[in-house]
Amino acid sequence: MEAKNFKIGSVTNLTRQIYRLELEGSFTTSPVPGQFIHIKVDDRLFLRRPLSIAGYKNNILTLIFQVVGEGTKMLSNKKKGEVLNVIGPVGKGFPINKNWKNILAVGGGTGIAPLIFLIDYLSHSRTTFLYGARSRQYIAFTALPKGVNYIFATDDGSYGHKGLISKTTSDFLRKNEKPDVIYGGGPYELLKKIGELSEKHNIPAFVSMENRMACGMGLCYGCVTKIKSGSVWEYKRVCKDGPVFSTKEIIWE
Ligand SMILES: Cc1cc2nc3c(=O)[nH]c(=O)nc-3n(C[C@H](O)[C@H](O)[C@H](O)COP(=O)(O)OP(=O)(O)OC[C@H]3O[C@@H](n4cnc5c(N)ncnc54)[C@H](O)[C@@H]3O)c2cc1C
Ligand code: FES
Repeated sequence: MEAKNFKIGSVTNLTRQIYRLELEGSFTTSPVPGQFIHIKVDDRLFLRRPLSIAGYKNNILTLIFQVVGEGTKMLSNKKKGEVLNVIGPVGKGFPINKNWKNILAVGGGTGIAPLIFLIDYLSHSRTTFLYGARSRQYIAFTALPKGVNYIFATDDGSYGHKGLISKTTSDFLRKNEKPDVIYGGGPYELLKKIGELSEKHNIPAFVSMENRMACGMGLCYGCVTKIKSGSVWEYKRVCKDGPVFSTKEIIWE
């Protein structure tokens, strides 16, 4: 993990409130899917903002983000050529096993970002990607990798199945061949549901958690989550011990 300056190559509005940011620069250690960066958006903001790595190829770091507040709004207004300070790659990524060939990826909202990087990385595998969004306007179609079987769900039914992607995931697992692994990203309730389905169908599952962060480097314990440890539990830092955890380890609230 290191702090480096990256130059903005492009900021592209993909769809309503969702942007792709391409940064030019290099890390000394190549990132792996599931890791994130901690980005200094502006001197007026004290805290950096964590964003999952959605791609890293030929010294181009790709991020996919949604405007939800001040920091992401400022980021969306950045211009090509501006320089941003980035700490990364941070955290532990998704476990990968070469025997896992039939992959199920489940993403809600911008929780798709780390899964996009993962799918590119696992290009030899057969992947089904279940993607849930509020409505059609919030689906970042142009960010999605090719060669993947997509199933969509929207809360309002404007694209794909109507309802939550967790329901689509449950139906999918009931009707299809059992995948070797489930990878997930998105809101807490979706990740929790993935945990339940992993137990029910006896499939290993790994999810990328998005707890609010302060230091982003393991010092402040501001991002902790309860993780099983033998017969008891302990707090683990999402930024340093995660953000990816096995759903079996997590004590869901
Ligand atoms: C490891 C990690 C990876 C992430 N990856 C991505 C990504 O790839 N793309 C993306 O769009 N977002 C991602 N996020 C969430 C992103 O960091 C926040 O949306 C961002 O920091 C908000 O900054 P802001 O200044 O715009 O909003 P703020 O003004 O800080 O907050 C605005 C609103 O967003 C909510 N919010 C802020 N941070 C979070 C969070 N971590 N989780 C849930 N709600 C939050 C606040 O509660 C508030 O309602 C990630 C978070 C983590 C911890
Ligand atoms: S944000 Fe400080 S320890 Fe994780």
